[in-house]
Amino acid sequence: MSVAIDRKRWCEGRVREVYRWTDKLYSLRVDAPVQPFTAGQFTKLGLVIGDELVSRPYSYVNAPGEAPLEFYFVTVPEGPLTNRMVGLSPGDAIEVMSRASGFLTLDEVPEAPNLWLLSTGTAIGPFLSILKTAQPWLRFERIVLVHAVRLAAELSFSDSIDSLLREHPEQFEYVPVVSREDTAFALRARVPALIEDGRLERRVGLPIEAATTQVMICGNPDMVKATSATLYTRGLARNRRREPGQVTVENYW
Ligand SMILES: Cc1cc2nc3c(=O)[nH]c(=O)nc-3n(C[C@H](O)[C@H](O)[C@H](O)COP(=O)(O)OP(=O)(O)OC[C@H]3O[C@@H](n4cnc5c(N)ncnc54)[C@H](O)[C@@H]3O)c2cc1C
Ligand SMILES: NC(=O)c1ccc[n+]([C@@H]2O[C@H](COP(=O)([O-])OP(=O)(O)OC[C@H]3O[C@@H](n4cnc5c(N)ncnc54)[C@H](OP(=O)(O)O)[C@@H]3O)[C@@H](O)[C@H]2O)c1
Repeated sequence: MSVAIDRKRWCEGRVREVYRWTDKLYSLRVDAPVQPFTAGQFTKLGLVIGDELVSRPYSYVNAPGEAPLEFYFVTVPEGPLTNRMVGLSPGDAIEVMSRASGFLTLDEVPEAPNLWLLSTGTAIGPFLSILKTAQPWLRFERIVLVHAVRLAAELSFSDSIDSLLREHPEQFEYVPVVSREDTAFALRARVPALIEDGRLERRVGLPIEAATTQVMICGNPDMVKATSATLYTRGLARNRRREPGQVTVENYW
């Protein structure tokens, strides 16, 4: 049975590559004529499964205007879409929502000297898109990217991060956090605990304080909630359009 797809909202993309980072983590690289988006936003990807278009939101990892489009995903046990996406081959079709959505963008973030980007797992993606643009480097004196994963093998995108470190040696700091194994280089704990005991700030040599700091948090909703709560005890506040603050968030589920 063919499924009617609203061509005003969806464009047909072509898979260039499904790049395997680990047995669970993949980058889907796609060519698709999407509308312009702002770094940090997400779109939807969809595949016809049975008699319906199954679609889910995914953040752009590529910068606006960059081709191919890149989406970084984890296969979720029993997940209907991710377990199908992983089997795609170059040339296969995939539906991409033409218009992007989302407010995890620098346009929403007030001015401050320092920007902290806190992510778990696949939610490093929107921050990489932002960091590939010129805007953050023009706006902030110091930028810290924190990537929290369970295992060191899940610290993907090391080439992109190394390039950023080379390009912005004084301005950029990358802090890997690996929660379930010891490594020589990563912090081992959950992000809220690392803020509470001061280890994160000591590692970077930069305090997280309301007067100087903007924080963007993305990923696991429990981490987003717990980290926000920790930051609120430090005097930072949720950033809203009508009531600007220092903490801008996006939950992945
Ligand atoms: C705004 C937004 C942006 C998103 N961007 C991404 C992205 O760039 N990459 C990505 O992999 N996912 C992203 N997601 C999640 C994505 O939309 C799907 O939920 C996910 O890929 C699972 O789809 P599924 O059909 O296989 O399983 P579903 O049946 O939809 O599984 C949902 C369950 O899987 C778990 N889960 C979902 N996503 C993740 C994740 N990323 N990491 C860990 N556990 C997860 C949660 O327990 C959730 O309840 C985003 C979600 C939102 C709301
Ligand atoms: N990664 C795997 O090996 C694995 C294995 C089986 C299934 N899965 C499934 O794959 C999906 C993605 O897993 P993932 O590893 O990318 O994401 P994840 O479970 O969100 O873990 C990423 C990081 O976030 C931390 N975290 C989790 N809850 C937190 C909280 N409440 N506060 C602060 N930090 C928190 C984790 O620490 P902790 O380690 O302390 O939780 C880890 O460092 C999940 O649906 C999971 O069920 C993953």
